[in-house]
Amino acid sequence: MDSIKVTGGAELNGIIPISGAKNAALPLMIASLLTDETLTLSNVPRLRDVAQLMQILSNHGVDYSVNGKRTGQDDLAGQTLNLTAREIVDTTAPYELVSKMRASFWVVGPLIARMHEARVSLPGGCAIGTRPVDFFIQGLEALGADIEIEGGYVVVKAPGGLIGGRVEFPRVSVGATHTIMMAATLAKGETEIVNAAREPEVVDLARCLKAMGAKIEGEGTSTIRIQGVPRLHGAHHAVVPDRIETGTYAMAVAITGGDVLLQGARTDLLESALDTLRQTGAEITATDEGLKVYRNGNGIQPADVTTEPFPGFPTDLQAQFMALMTKAGGKSRITETIFENRFMHVQELARLGAQIAIDGRTATVEGVSTLRGAPVMATDLRASVSLVIAGLAAEGETTVSRVYHLDRGFERLEDKLTRCGAQIQRISG
Ligand code: EPU
Repeated sequence: MDSIKVTGGAELNGIIPISGAKNAALPLMIASLLTDETLTLSNVPRLRDVAQLMQILSNHGVDYSVNGKRTGQDDLAGQTLNLTAREIVDTTAPYELVSKMRASFWVVGPLIARMHEARVSLPGGCAIGTRPVDFFIQGLEALGADIEIEGGYVVVKAPGGLIGGRVEFPRVSVGATHTIMMAATLAKGETEIVNAAREPEVVDLARCLKAMGAKIEGEGTSTIRIQGVPRLHGAHHAVVPDRIETGTYAMAVAITGGDVLLQGARTDLLESALDTLRQTGAEITATDEGLKVYRNGNGIQPADVTTEPFPGFPTDLQAQFMALMTKAGGKSRITETIFENRFMHVQELARLGAQIAIDGRTATVEGVSTLRGAPVMATDLRASVSLVIAGLAAEGETTVSRVYHLDRGFERLEDKLTRCGAQIQRISG
């Protein structure tokens, strides 16, 4: 297994191109199951999760091709995927595939909508929490599906097709919103999703579905209305920039100091996190080219955050923000409300000298003046990158093992950081 070695202390200066969002690309790829025509997605990041999902979709019968390099493209440009589900040959998503990536459970929406049946393995828990699928089941039942759990599989049937209905989620769920929205595009009549997720990735999926012929209103608000249509067609859609990658690099600059342009980033996708970063002393400016992050080397101010669904502070930036707070000049409180077990980076940050106490859902971080490099490892994607951020600001060498977590969600992290002066390298293991 590869690891990443970071030698801390260097400022970051330069340009980091922001990739397409992983969490938008995955549901967009799944949407290709809704039509027998080709869905072309550009600005798709080159990530392990994307490759894994391609394997899962091919099992259902999706053909795909990847466009080659074009004039003027550099090696960090996103890829263009052409996905065609001319015929769905298998409506089962097996345990071996779904257990590797939770989001693949979302295929249940398009499969039941188009094929009127689906058999999808329950994804199981994961490192950050139990993550049940009860909202998906309630939602599909509200659209007239008949659901049974058999041998670890969710077996969904709707012999005459889905029928539009009212779906009210007990709490905000990104995945359940994606799934019910996709399912409802081909249902008969109108579906109303109440307490829908407002995340930019949901808006991006809705835009793509509309380009495919779906009738959707209200995406980006907490009530989404979908008028079912008999069929969808092919389309071309460019994946929205990754707000979590943007926030991650902004926090890296905030901890090391320096001046970096996050090329292609959009401020409107992460206002809350940027406001918090400003409170810590970082200067953030939106430009035509992206987002400029500057920190002049003065002390980092502490700030408190609570994770919330969009437009609140994202749970996917909680670990990175905690890394930043380990070097703040004072005490900060970080409360996680989305997942019950998303503090696994705390013990690893402590190995670098961070002072963090956990009480239930809240971590209190007492900033220290010096972090010291150490070998660390993490059990999920965002926790892993928080250790890289801390390592960039630590004295000496930090080795982050289990890098495959990072490869799931950060495209060429070490290349992007090296270009800005970081001392970071991958060690093949
Ligand atoms: N929940 C239920 N029942 C359900 C569905 C969700 O109780 O049927 C709970 C979850 O257990 C959790 C909360 O609702 O406590 C919110 O979970 P949500 O469904 O919104 O999460 P998700 O759709 O599984 C996506 C992202 C996550 C991100 C969350 C929250 C993708 C592929 N994943 O997950 O991203 O943390 O939304 O914003 O889009 C990551 O990229 O590292 C990552 C974990």
